[in-house]
Amino acid sequence: MSPDAELIGRLERHGQGHLLRWWGELANAQRARLAAEVAAIDLDQLDRLVAELVRADGTPAAPDERVRPIDVVRLPQTDGERVAIRRAAGVGADAIAAGEVGVILVAGGSGTRLGFEGPKGTFPIGPVSSATLFQIHAEKIVALSRRHRKTIPLYVMTSPENHQATVDFFQANSRFGLEHVRFFVQGQMPAVDRATGKVLLAMKDRVALSPDGHGGTLAALAAPGPGGGPSCLDEMSELGLRTLFYFQVDNPLVRIADPAFIGLHREAGAEMSFKVVERTAPGEKLGVVVSVDDRPQVIEYSDLPPDLASRREPEGRLELWAGSIAVHVLERTFIERLTGDASHRLPFHRAIKTVSHVDENGRIVKPEEPNAVKFEQFIFDALPMASRWNIVETDRTVEFEPLKNAVGLDSPATVHQRMSDQFASWLEQAGVSVPRRGDGSVPFSIEISPLFALDSAELKSKIEPGLVVDRPMYLR
Ligand code: UD1
Repeated sequence: MSPDAELIGRLERHGQGHLLRWWGELANAQRARLAAEVAAIDLDQLDRLVAELVRADGTPAAPDERVRPIDVVRLPQTDGERVAIRRAAGVGADAIAAGEVGVILVAGGSGTRLGFEGPKGTFPIGPVSSATLFQIHAEKIVALSRRHRKTIPLYVMTSPENHQATVDFFQANSRFGLEHVRFFVQGQMPAVDRATGKVLLAMKDRVALSPDGHGGTLAALAAPGPGGGPSCLDEMSELGLRTLFYFQVDNPLVRIADPAFIGLHREAGAEMSFKVVERTAPGEKLGVVVSVDDRPQVIEYSDLPPDLASRREPEGRLELWAGSIAVHVLERTFIERLTGDASHRLPFHRAIKTVSHVDENGRIVKPEEPNAVKFEQFIFDALPMASRWNIVETDRTVEFEPLKNAVGLDSPATVHQRMSDQFASWLEQAGVSVPRRGDGSVPFSIEISPLFALDSAELKSKIEPGLVVDRPMYLR
């Protein structure tokens, strides 16, 4: 078997002929796999990306003076604002009860910073129960479905690297009681050498591929299902789902399918909505939602010039204060519009990474320094393409404590503490007294399964009079 002459010619024309360098040494099965991986690369697109993001520095950022704070529905302060939020919650609850709301969970990332082998969703995070992230998310959906007596379909995005492990994990746990869950795999992009733009080989018969970023969600939702079956979008349409709640696997505090957020999105006639929290420090690692020439846009923390990131209002608050917690609502028809029209493709960003690869002597090298560029799309780049949008503030103490690192900030320790503190405050709202340290934190772990109570109001209706909380406790 020799490589297809057309393929060789195409690779040579694009300066990627080296990908077949080891062809002569490969067995037929290896050759077939390599040929398929190479043929799947869009070489014209790759040329453009290398020109823009490897040889040049990408699209220049908007000049500072065009970047302004975005309008946000702030946390309610007045009775009138509280009534408006309650009304929106009614609108959202009606949408759920009508079966119009589905949930998208993105879980294709590799969790390198956490240093955890396996899908991040399988990380045990419950402070008492050691329930995994997936279990906590799934139980919230089961509980919400019961509350509204309606199935809330869940769509879980995986990557080729963690797909099977994710599916097996849900199966082994009887899908945590979910009525409808579908897994879909995101696309991959080749990693290229940072100096030359040449695609790296992970092995002699394998291209160095990595997930195409959570922006890949959109194309993956539109892609045909297994065996050429209906895409997720087609299935959603068939099921009558109109509004999709999107979140990341790493935040166990997320209020999945929050009715008030869905209601505010619908009342605004929005195609895409964002939840934001107030950024506490200029260097905080959050995407920042801003307005550029009256269009909404997210600038990732790493791309925000330091002087813009730290600009303050006269009273001291950060001017660009709206930090994205990566919780969104999208209309299904918006995703259909974006995926149906090539002019609406999300842009790629570059990530400079350390990637093991086969060198010219055929040895696998593990570089000490970042040697490669990976290409990723970000879902938040869909925001400027929405005809209408809504940005809603939430309180980080109740809704945002992501698991990103093994130690320090956003680590298991901080997540455990925040979860315990939140459950303690639910207990207190239900009239139970809970010991607190001088700094307000609780001195032991407390956990409440979403199946026991989804919020403080539900907890109140279930709590036994005379409950004493003086040691670790798990309510389930
Ligand atoms: C992300 C956001 C940031 C936001 C913050 C909130 C980006 C680039 N940044 O940061 O704006 O303020 O979360 O916590 O998104 N994922 C995939 N496939 C991929 C890559 C990621 O499914 O190819 C999923 C991960 O499984 C995870 C989520 O996307 O659920 C976040 O990915 P991650 O790379 O960890 O983003 P952050 O840098 O933490």
